[in-house]
Amino acid sequence: MVAAGTALDPVVVTHALGQYPVYVAPGALMQLEGLVARHLGSVRIAMIADASVHALLQSSRLGRGPWNGSAITFPPGEASKTRDQWARLSDALLAGAYGRDSGIVAMGGGVAGDLAGFVAATYLRGIPYVQVPTSLLAMLDASVGGKTGVDTPRGKNLIGAFHPPGAVIADPCALTTLPERDYHSGMAEAVKHGLIADAEYFAWMERETDALLGRDVAALTHLVRRSVEIKAAVVSGDEREAGRRAILNAGHTVAHALEQATEYRISHGEAVALGLIAECALAAALGVAPAGLGDRVSGLLGRLRLPVRLPAPIDSGRLVQAMASDKKNRGSAVRFALARGLGAMSEGDRWTHPASETAIRKALETIT
Ligand SMILES: NC(=O)c1ccc[n+]([C@@H]2O[C@H](COP(=O)([O-])OP(=O)(O)OC[C@H]3O[C@@H](n4cnc5c(N)ncnc54)[C@H](O)[C@@H]3O)[C@@H](O)[C@H]2O)c1
Ligand SMILES: [Zn+2]
Repeated sequence: MVAAGTALDPVVVTHALGQYPVYVAPGALMQLEGLVARHLGSVRIAMIADASVHALLQSSRLGRGPWNGSAITFPPGEASKTRDQWARLSDALLAGAYGRDSGIVAMGGGVAGDLAGFVAATYLRGIPYVQVPTSLLAMLDASVGGKTGVDTPRGKNLIGAFHPPGAVIADPCALTTLPERDYHSGMAEAVKHGLIADAEYFAWMERETDALLGRDVAALTHLVRRSVEIKAAVVSGDEREAGRRAILNAGHTVAHALEQATEYRISHGEAVALGLIAECALAAALGVAPAGLGDRVSGLLGRLRLPVRLPAPIDSGRLVQAMASDKKNRGSAVRFALARGLGAMSEGDRWTHPASETAIRKALETIT
């Protein structure tokens, strides 16, 4: 545990306008008020929180006492990531006469970060905010990179803005209350980070599966910190996805298609797990990666209780169609960010490779 008042050694993310610290420390929530005050420097502070996370916080089950400042909550879940909620939360700030000297604390999972971050990005043309991620996915992925936004009926994350936070405060102790499915889902992004950038980190996850499944705080602290370092190193060099940031999309071309085709019945992390396996098979078929890579990735994902096969068959033609309509494609061919080995991505043509429909369908057979 980190005692109150000791120095927390943050991971630093740099962006076009400056930099921000990401604190990954057990007990960081004990110092929430102090860290928020240090990094927002705002006269008035409003917390915007996922209602269930806020209830846990107020009952001290996240490992700290209640938040004494004001808080506006929204119902938990992706269904809240809408323009309607953005308007309701913005209106609540206006009704409270929050001025330009105000700041926001975004507390909860990735939904809270994206939604409250978008409120901060647009409120009075932008006010500062601090992210307090409480889900595994939010700690090791969503809270880093400065992307904020909401969904529309035409697709996820279609309306949004880049708005880097003033700081990110991640307390791995808060993960003990996270529901099982959300917990396992978050692990898929950590496996992705190992695959794209760090073979030793991947091997560490293989060795520490039991500690990770048991939510050992020391293991979780290393996990979140190493993932944040990897994501920070990638986004720091490429904030707006012009080039190398594309490697973070490993597994995601297939994952987004699976989410769409199953109408989001499988979680994002489950879809990423399956996507990583299918895309490793594709990389092998295209001669980019060695054949055994997919088996190693699939082995770790399975041990971390993620699916390695689709629960029910899905027409591969439908999946290819969903991939073709993905907003990240350039020109006509579907493109993939592919690993060339454990811990290394293929540069290809600007970090992605085109693939034919036949090759994609064949790769999808590995998960059906
Ligand atoms: N901005 C980005 O770069 C980025 C990256 C990846 C994902 N995302 C977004 O993140 C969202 C998904 O994030 P998520 O999986 O965290 O979803 P989420 O925010 O809905 O949280 C998942 C569930 O966990 C609960 N929860 C969170 N922390 C808890 C805790 N400590 N204890 C108990 N329950 C807790 C929440 O109430 C919710 O029911 C998606 O909208 C996705 O688009 C954004
Ligand atoms: Zn993802």
